Amino acid sequence: MQTFYWKLQKSSDNQEINTRAARLIKQGEVVAFPTETVYGLGADGLNPTAVAKIFAAKGRPNDNPLILHIARQEDILPLTTGLNANARKLMEKFWPGPLTLIVEKAAVVPDAVSAGLPTVAVRFPSNKLAQDFIKACGCPIAAPSANISGRPSPTNAQDVLEDMQGKVAAVLDGGSCGIGLESTVVDTTSPVPTICRPGGVTYEMLTEALGAVEIDPALQGDKNFKPKAPGMKYRHYAPKEPVYLLEGEAVGLLPQLTARALAAGLKVGVLCGAELAQKIPAHDKLLLSSWGDSLERLAGDLFYLLRDFDRTRPDVILAAGVSEEGLGLAIMNRLRKAAGYQIVTLENGALHLKNDKHLPEFMIQ
Ligand code: TXA
Ligand code: MG
Repeated sequence: MQTFYWKLQKSSDNQEINTRAARLIKQGEVVAFPTETVYGLGADGLNPTAVAKIFAAKGRPNDNPLILHIARQEDILPLTTGLNANARKLMEKFWPGPLTLIVEKAAVVPDAVSAGLPTVAVRFPSNKLAQDFIKACGCPIAAPSANISGRPSPTNAQDVLEDMQGKVAAVLDGGSCGIGLESTVVDTTSPVPTICRPGGVTYEMLTEALGAVEIDPALQGDKNFKPKAPGMKYRHYAPKEPVYLLEGEAVGLLPQLTARALAAGLKVGVLCGAELAQKIPAHDKLLLSSWGDSLERLAGDLFYLLRDFDRTRPDVILAAGVSEEGLGLAIMNRLRKAAGYQIVTLENGALHLKNDKHLPEFMIQ
């Protein structure tokens, strides 16, 4: 299939491009578009045949439901049988923005979107380019992140093309996404609202708005819990090479562990903040990705940096964990998944790998 590439202008309403894109959507085709979180792979959310094409393009398992994107608050009303007080509060406070609400589903929402669940996920993005595109389409836009299933989500149009060229009808290029991590997903139908996926709207912001908020216990990687968001059970964001995530006191050992891996002859990818990066001397087999000093910068760059490792192909990747406050919770969730829960900690002076796996050779003294 030929994939059209259309560049959007931030300063205009892009009417001509949006008319063409909307025509494709009405014909049941798939169009990738920018949002403030990551790029989405959009199709007419009320057309099961169009929705099926999203699953095919991504290679996405059918049991993983999609988010319906809208461009006006009131457009959620036909999609749900009712909104409770918590849902209304969250809409008022955080929409438009990087927050997805799980609500009871109305009959008009195809099972292909909700993967057979009685609920549906709805989001009103704040990105003006996304809003104009959705408005032009005149229907809710079902959209997952625009990556091949399992890869890091794309945060620029080139990364979308890398995964989707030839598989979708068009890609709308709106430049880089600001936040860089997918939206926070909150189930508003449970007695206590529950974070199914952490994101740009943080736990702290949600508790301030609602009082009690739970975090899905499955997010800690404990195999005894089944995640509330089906998508959270899949291996995700993982570069092709093994990733080890250092947490707690082990983070300070990053320069040493990097040196040992290099001494063992490995090509080493390192992902850490500026302060640690300064302690790691240059080496021709070292690929150092430093994310500066703010969590916002790390969130914004994380998926790009993980994708970059798929291009530079180190033998092993060492990543430094961050504190789980604020945006840190979402970042650590993505890093843990990228690492396949290969988490390295320091206990009583000795390195440990979580989940009872064996430490790699170079970490054993
Ligand atoms: O920021 C975002 O949310 C991006 C942009 C494009 O809007 N979209 C996105 O979609 O990340 P996706 O499909 O990659 O992730 C949607 C997540 C999945 O983990 C899915 O399982 C969960 O939301 N989800 C969708 N509907 C659900 C439902 N009814 N109940 C529980 N989880 C649901
Ligand atoms: Mg995704």
